[in-house]
Amino acid sequence: MTAVGIDAIEIWTGKLKLDLAETFAPAKGEAPEKYTKGLGLEASSFPDTYEDIVTMGANAAKRLMDRKGLSPDDIGRIDVATESAFDNSKPVSTYIAGCLEEVYDGDFHHANKGERKFACVAGTQSIDDAYNWIKAGRHRGRSALVIATDTALYARGDPGEATQGAGAVAMLVSEDPSVVELSTHQGYGSADETDFLKPNQQFPSVDGKRSVQVYLARMREALTDFESVAGRIHSDDYAYFPFHTPFPGMVRKAALLGFRHMTRDTEIEDELATEIGRQPREEEYEDWEAYEDAIRSYMDALKETDTYNDWYARAIDPTLTLARRVGNWYTGSVHVARASALKTAAETGRALSGEKLLVGSYGSGAQAEIHSETIMDGWREEVEAFDIDEQLARRYDLSFEEYGRVHDAHNHEKERELEEFTVPSGEFVFTGWGRMNERK
Ligand code: CAA
Repeated sequence: MTAVGIDAIEIWTGKLKLDLAETFAPAKGEAPEKYTKGLGLEASSFPDTYEDIVTMGANAAKRLMDRKGLSPDDIGRIDVATESAFDNSKPVSTYIAGCLEEVYDGDFHHANKGERKFACVAGTQSIDDAYNWIKAGRHRGRSALVIATDTALYARGDPGEATQGAGAVAMLVSEDPSVVELSTHQGYGSADETDFLKPNQQFPSVDGKRSVQVYLARMREALTDFESVAGRIHSDDYAYFPFHTPFPGMVRKAALLGFRHMTRDTEIEDELATEIGRQPREEEYEDWEAYEDAIRSYMDALKETDTYNDWYARAIDPTLTLARRVGNWYTGSVHVARASALKTAAETGRALSGEKLLVGSYGSGAQAEIHSETIMDGWREEVEAFDIDEQLARRYDLSFEEYGRVHDAHNHEKERELEEFTVPSGEFVFTGWGRMNERK
């Protein structure tokens, strides 16, 4: 059977940077370590005032099409995943297609266009849609362009403000992919939740603490559901575990929970037993509270062991290197985590072809999805083409006052004359509502 999966990836970061330790922490009167150690973040990417979800998505897509030598005729669908859409009728993919048609011969009249919304999990759902479309044989030899693009901004003063970010990830889904083959093995954890909402409002209403618990609960369900299809997950079966990363500290919590789950009733649990005891079993406790206390103590001991820390350093930490520098990109976040792991492997000369990834996507509202992927032979060449380090180094470093003005500008004030902090060059820029985005 023909392999279907991700053939190419391009990442576009917002062109401004908010440094959390140097700029944000002093202005908030907080210790820098709250952000750098507690949340695990160094900086957020911010969009300049001429950037938005359309320009960032179109710029990532343009780079991808140019690098792969594609024309509109090679692409049979454009799916955009975003939770920052500004149009309740037209999908963002039509705006992005409009931009791309300005610069390529040919057009996307033949291409199906759509917009997916389920908070941050929508990027992965769009990839699933593309996979299903190809597997169903409806693609007529064409590939799908999937773009996850978001400006993840919170209201000023919201605890989520430290986890903001902005950027786009463009991915080409096709037959005989170069980066990863998607498998049919998937697991879900889904429930109606109200911890993170944006009902017709620009910034989310968030119960941050509860959102962390909901993330963990849905991921736990998705793990169990995945195992019902694919069998037991073992910590050594996967090279990396790229997970949705609202902030690296969230993944640290999920990783600990996942490691306990994966090592239960295995040789690893037996080995650890001499050091920290066996994992508590529910039937050994009189009530749920006592059981939960015992689990908490076990987890506290587990996170101090070399066994756990070695696994974390090998399989989790490399997925977080980009997130630390860019913050939360909502729909793009888990795809940044995959890119981050592959990039680290390429830099350290690690051989990965044929190895597997366990990918954990999550969207508030809420749904977790876990699936596995197999790394293909062409992964290294694709990943070495990333220019994300150069893009990150070029970001304009905002002062706190400037940050406030940029935040206001993105709060629907884009019609007035706005100061710009960087000079656009060979890229799509926002020129006004209802007008075509131009390439400067
Ligand atoms: N040194 C070291 N660590 C410190 C510290 C210091 N000086 N000060 C605080 N910390 C630690 C805290 O102990 C805490 O770590 P633990 O959770 O491991 O205990 C961490 O830093 C954060 O501190 P607080 O919990 O006090 O931070 P907060 O309450 O101000 O904000 C938050 C945390 C509620 C998660 C907030 O960032 C938030 O609302 N974020 C947005 C919602 C979010 O991202 N939720 C994640 C799940 S939902 C999801 O994934 C979807 C999505 O993309 C939004």
